[in-house]
Amino acid sequence: MKNVSLAMKLDSQTLGQGVIDSTIEYLNQVPKLAETLYELLSEALGLKPDHLGAMECGRSRTFIGQYYPPCPEPELTLGTSKHTDPSFLTILLQDQIGGLQVLHENQYTNVAPLPGSLVVNIGDMLQIISNDEFISADHRVLANRAGPRISVAGFFSGPALPGKVYGPIKELISEKHPPRYKEFTVGEYISKFFSRPIDKSGLDEFRLQE
Ligand code: OGA
Ligand code: NI
Repeated sequence: MKNVSLAMKLDSQTLGQGVIDSTIEYLNQVPKLAETLYELLSEALGLKPDHLGAMECGRSRTFIGQYYPPCPEPELTLGTSKHTDPSFLTILLQDQIGGLQVLHENQYTNVAPLPGSLVVNIGDMLQIISNDEFISADHRVLANRAGPRISVAGFFSGPALPGKVYGPIKELISEKHPPRYKEFTVGEYISKFFSRPIDKSGLDEFRLQE
C-alpha cells in the first residue's frame, strides 16, 4: 500500500478478516479510479490524458474514516461545517444515513446516498492549477438524529516532500486567460488550510490581485 498512511489498526481479532480484506481492496482500487478521473479531467481541460497524472496530482493519498454520532438536536449544530477540500480530488464513500450537502446555485442541496456509489469532489488545488476552469465544491454535513453515520474520504494530492511546486497549468494561460493564482507547494497549502477557520476558503491566500 504505497503512499497510504493507515492510522487505523488492522487487527483481525477486533475487526474480522473480511473487514480488513475489503478495506485493503478499497484502498487499492480507489487510486485506480482517481487515475481514470484524472485522465478524463485532463481531456476536459483540452490537455493530453496523462497531463494531470504526470503532474503527480494523485501521488499522495490520505484516507480518513469519519464517525458522526447520532445527534439529539440536529437543528442546533452541524456534522461538518461548510468547506472546500484541501486536495486536488476527493473520493468519498458515505453510508445510507445521508446528511452530505453541496452548494448549488447558492443553496445547499442533499447529496442523497446511493448504494454502491462514490462522491467525487474537485478540491481547491485542482481549482488553482486549472486556473478556475474547475471550481472546488463547497459542501457540509448536517447532523442527524439517526446514526451513527460513517464516511470514508480519500484525499488525493501531490507529493508534499520534496515540496513540488504547483501553479496554474501553462497550457491554460494566455493573454486572455492570465494566471489567477500564485504558485504553491502542497505542504504550504495544507498548513494555510489548517491555520484558518474551516469555513474560510484557503484559495484567497493564493489568489493574485486582478
Ligand atoms: C471531508 C468531507 C464529508 C462526509 O472529509 O472533507 O467533506 O460525508 N466529508 O463525511
Ligand atoms: Ni470535504
